[in-house]
Amino acid sequence: MRLKAVVLYQILAVTAWTTSSSSSSQQKLAAPSPPEPEPIDVFELPLPPVTQNETERGCTRKINPHGTGCIGATTSNLNGGNFLPDGDHVTASLVFTGAPAAPDPASNYQGLHLIIVRVNGTNFPNGDPWKCITCGVPASQQYGLTSTMDYGYPQAFTDGTRILAGSYIIDCGSAQLASAECTPDKVHIYPIRWNTTPAGNGSGGSIRELRKHPDDVHISFNSIAYVGGTMAQYAYFSRLEFNPAPTTGTPLTPRYDLVNVTVLYNSNAQPIFSTNGSHLTIDRQSITVGEARGLSGLGDQVDYLGFPAESCNIDIFGVSLKTGEVVRVTRDPEYVDPIDTSPDGKWVVIMDTTTSHRMMFLAGMRGIPPLVDSLVTGAVSSIRNNGLRRFFQPWLVDRHGAREDKNGSYYMGQQINAVGNEEPGSINDPSWNGGADPRWSLDGTKITYYQMLVTAPDCGGSNPLPCPISTEPGHRHVRLMVANLTSRRPLAVRPIEPVSDTVPWGQKYVPGSSLPDPPSFPFGNFTLAGLVSGYADVSFISDSAGVSLKTVVARYHNYSDDGDNFIAGTEQVTTTYPNLTMIHVDWFSDLHSTGTSRSSKVTSPGGFHFDIDIQKNKFYANGTLITTVDGVTYRQPENGT
Ligand SMILES: *[C@@H]1O[C@H](CO)[C@@H](O)[C@H](O)[C@H]1NC(C)=O
Ligand SMILES: *[C@@H]1O[C@H](CO)[C@@H](O)[C@H](O)[C@H]1NC(C)=O
Ligand SMILES: *[C@@H]1O[C@H](CO)[C@@H](O)[C@H](O)[C@H]1NC(C)=O
Ligand SMILES: *[C@@H]1O[C@H](CO)[C@@H](O)[C@H](O)[C@H]1NC(C)=O
Ligand SMILES: *[C@@H]1O[C@H](CO)[C@@H](O)[C@H](O)[C@H]1NC(C)=O
Ligand SMILES: *[C@@H]1O[C@H](CO)[C@@H](O)[C@H](O)[C@H]1NC(C)=O
Ligand SMILES: *[C@@H]1O[C@H](CO)[C@@H](O)[C@H](O)[C@H]1NC(C)=O
Ligand SMILES: *[C@@H]1O[C@H](CO)[C@@H](O)[C@H](O)[C@H]1NC(C)=O
Ligand SMILES: *[C@@H]1O[C@H](CO)[C@@H](O)[C@H](O)[C@H]1NC(C)=O
Ligand SMILES: *[C@@H]1O[C@H](CO)[C@@H](O)[C@H](O)[C@H]1NC(C)=O
Ligand SMILES: *[C@@H]1O[C@H](CO)[C@@H](O)[C@H](O)[C@H]1NC(C)=O
Repeated sequence: MRLKAVVLYQILAVTAWTTSSSSSSQQKLAAPSPPEPEPIDVFELPLPPVTQNETERGCTRKINPHGTGCIGATTSNLNGGNFLPDGDHVTASLVFTGAPAAPDPASNYQGLHLIIVRVNGTNFPNGDPWKCITCGVPASQQYGLTSTMDYGYPQAFTDGTRILAGSYIIDCGSAQLASAECTPDKVHIYPIRWNTTPAGNGSGGSIRELRKHPDDVHISFNSIAYVGGTMAQYAYFSRLEFNPAPTTGTPLTPRYDLVNVTVLYNSNAQPIFSTNGSHLTIDRQSITVGEARGLSGLGDQVDYLGFPAESCNIDIFGVSLKTGEVVRVTRDPEYVDPIDTSPDGKWVVIMDTTTSHRMMFLAGMRGIPPLVDSLVTGAVSSIRNNGLRRFFQPWLVDRHGAREDKNGSYYMGQQINAVGNEEPGSINDPSWNGGADPRWSLDGTKITYYQMLVTAPDCGGSNPLPCPISTEPGHRHVRLMVANLTSRRPLAVRPIEPVSDTVPWGQKYVPGSSLPDPPSFPFGNFTLAGLVSGYADVSFISDSAGVSLKTVVARYHNYSDDGDNFIAGTEQVTTTYPNLTMIHVDWFSDLHSTGTSRSSKVTSPGGFHFDIDIQKNKFYANGTLITTVDGVTYRQPENGT
């Protein structure tokens, strides 16, 4: 998660990018009226009991009479996953603690494991509402485990027998995971290996953020690379192939190999900014995948975090695997990245920062073209969190995205967990913040998500709330949730035909080959014409070595890309990088717009200067940047929060 910001400032700063070709006015014409809010019933799922004593045998029979494990109040590292195909179970990974030593059978309930949890209020035959899938698996059936592994983003396959978790596939042979036939002796844990050498030797490449395709045979993943001395990230699409007896590469155990790998990078595309003489063009049709976030419900599209379509507004874009056609999936001004599409492709569930208004001081003024974003996307993305605290809440949005309705009010989707009084522990308690990813059930009637309670030292100041005491059992700081979309009729569950291994616009990955070079940046002074009216004078100024972009200056003259917002004024931003993870930004804005709203984005005299470490997500500024939209004022978070 946190490496993403590196990517955004390194990769998106310099490579081609893409946005939907449709301006918001076109989108408005094409999109139907926004849906009315629908009834949503949110409830919490049970988890193993909490022990306050995390030493050996601290998980006593008094705490868990069944001897099936305990978790710590703050150490469980819960990752909620998706639904099994029956819709009656949700997958999750967590860390058990306090188990006795072997040969006590309860010793199996220690450390990192994968569980499934009943959704419908019933129990497994042993009386627990959850079942640990990986506890007690014979050591000879666990391959390639490492001390730093995780089972993040657990994703059950649609056959009910396998789960992708971290970079492992856990299967129960032919037994349904939820059935009594699925016992630990039938479970195998296989590593996934990405070969990166021509000879097929070595341990393979490091992969992250794996997302299963709904066809059960492909995945998307990301990998950090070092290109020209800087850190960057590339996204990939690949087939999973079971290899029962590999002859090269480690681990030399049964494993899944990634074959037919495609780099999701279009080297034939126009760069983000192209120039012709003094004219600057922003290409809204080329493809750049900053970080792949998964595949859409119908399996035809990769969703990804892309270079902003509007300044400082971090959104998800989707690109068709077959045609390379790009759509802008999210549009609202707040930060978004976790996303899942409903199995019929008609809805998305996202996690975003909307309820906190945290990013409005940056992105509340609409229609500013993404010029300074070549410099600030990484820094801006990093402001979304306060340390480990995320400000995510789950939202349900139809596939046409945020837009105005006919009455002129703004639809940004429906907050899924809006019920409650914001009291401690309530469904909409803002101190509980979402993790990645929220997930649809295969029949489209339920969504599962999980949350973490804000924990010291990330509670201080007046923007985040003071540190609360958890009202959950054992004061645990995690909770696993289900939202029942009670008015929806179940969709027919249909298998998805495997898609092609070939992504025509991508670049076939050849093990050992070097990664695509980013295009060079056009330094100089240019004019950018608004798509609807006006223009901007733009200067892209390099560092003294003439290598990297250092400063962007933009002067707007009644500039409009959307016909809704007409922008005037100036903005100038310079960034420096004290080290690999630290960004310092010097920002001067005096922007004003008219049109559907009266907005401004203005820095204090002397400018707005901030530091952010993209791995620490702590914001420190001198000066202010204030955005005002129709009289509503949005300010930056307090320093250190
Ligand atoms: C934790 O549990 C262990 C094993 O039961 C016990 O020896 C120890 O005294 C307990 N510690 C506390 C603080 O209760
Ligand atoms: C709850 O889920 C279990 C497991 O799928 C199923 O056997 C049982 O019939 C369900 N019970 C209800 C009341 O839906
Ligand atoms: C793979 O084998 C080649 C040729 O023997 C060797 O040069 C290279 O270092 C090996 N790579 C790894 C990752 O083991
Ligand atoms: C996919 O990979 C398999 C096994 O490595 C290979 O035989 C096949 O030719 C590849 N297909 C394509 C389209 O590259
Ligand atoms: C660049 O501008 C010139 C002069 O306006 C025009 O003739 C030419 O076609 C343009 N080139 C491209 C690639 O758009
Ligand atoms: C918009 O106007 C229509 C018709 O006047 C009305 O039925 C609808 O409820 C209004 N929607 C909102 C969100 O106010
Ligand atoms: C979801 O709501 C529907 C309609 O009220 C109900 O029939 C169903 O049992 C609920 N499902 C769960 C898992 O609560
Ligand atoms: C480019 O524009 C900047 C103002 O943004 C100006 O200071 C500079 O002189 C211009 N350079 C050229 C070569 O016109
Ligand atoms: C800005 O452009 C729009 C559309 O061309 C025009 O209606 C408006 O009068 C212009 N405003 C100014 C201040 O020039
Ligand atoms: C970068 O500098 C900051 C502030 O001095 C420091 O906290 C951080 O650890 C440094 N990061 C690296 C990678 O050196
Ligand atoms: C803020 O100003 C202080 C005092 O001049 C300086 O030490 C600090 O580095 C500045 N911080 C930022 C983020 O500009």
